[in-house]
Amino acid sequence: MDLNIRLDGKVAIVTGAAMGIGQAMAQGLASVGATVIIADIADEQAKKTAEDIVAGGGQAEAYHLDTTSSVEYNSLVEYLTGKYGKIDILVNNAGINRRNLTVNMPEEDFRKIIEINLTGVWIGSKAVAPVMMAQKSGKIVNTCSIMGYASLPELSAYSASKGGVLQLTRNLALELADYNIQVNAVAPAYILTELTAKLKANPAMYEDLIRRTPMKRFGTLEEIAGPVVFLCSDLANYMTGHTMPVDGGWLCS
Ligand SMILES: NC(=O)c1ccc[n+]([C@@H]2O[C@H](COP(=O)([O-])OP(=O)(O)OC[C@H]3O[C@@H](n4cnc5c(N)ncnc54)[C@H](O)[C@@H]3O)[C@@H](O)[C@H]2O)c1
Repeated sequence: MDLNIRLDGKVAIVTGAAMGIGQAMAQGLASVGATVIIADIADEQAKKTAEDIVAGGGQAEAYHLDTTSSVEYNSLVEYLTGKYGKIDILVNNAGINRRNLTVNMPEEDFRKIIEINLTGVWIGSKAVAPVMMAQKSGKIVNTCSIMGYASLPELSAYSASKGGVLQLTRNLALELADYNIQVNAVAPAYILTELTAKLKANPAMYEDLIRRTPMKRFGTLEEIAGPVVFLCSDLANYMTGHTMPVDGGWLCS
């Protein structure tokens, strides 16, 4: 039995990979041999992330992608199938958050969060799945959140979007199972990135979040990259439709 993870020769798209969690996922996939497409709207940071991976001996390239645009997604798919002839892995990770009470939240903020966090996952999966269906293999991993299961005040849009990702993961798993495509998700609790830096900088809020976390700390980037690499590997071939919490025990309390 060989339980080492290697993804040599695999072509992986990671969205929102210019920074934060997506960047760590991309670095993790590249570290075990995948060629990673750093797909993001932040062109300069995406380029830098790809360059750093290549400088470290990995394979990566940056590609401008707004995940809410099916036109841009279709161009990416056309580019990758032309260059590599396949797409093995899609990590639908790009996401945003804007905290506000529902009664104070501008409608456009609600729509924006749903559009990027949920509709973008649907658009990406719809664009890439036909390539995976034709090759009869593929892994799709979505970035959900513990807020897809639970919620806190000021997170109505975010929680709704992530609850949607959880269900979309189940549905895509059913629809794509016959094609040997596994669709799963990870549900991080708090991981220190740009998105959560403001929370950490607010002592009252940080203390409250730590109090709610059985492991009493935020997660590290490595701790979210590892589970994603696992879900993208052959070790997870019999897992599909599941959302894996990576949460320091948050959902147990
Ligand atoms: N950080 C956490 O604690 C945490 C916890 C749970 C879930 N998440 C989820 O993890 C994912 C990444 O979060 P993060 O903390 O790394 O955020 P981040 O703000 O550090 O990075 C998000 C990345 O997504 C990109 N992006 C935003 N909109 C995009 C679009 N339309 N198309 C392409 N790229 C786009 C940004 O340019 C950026 O590079 C999100 O889905 C978020 O909801 C984060």
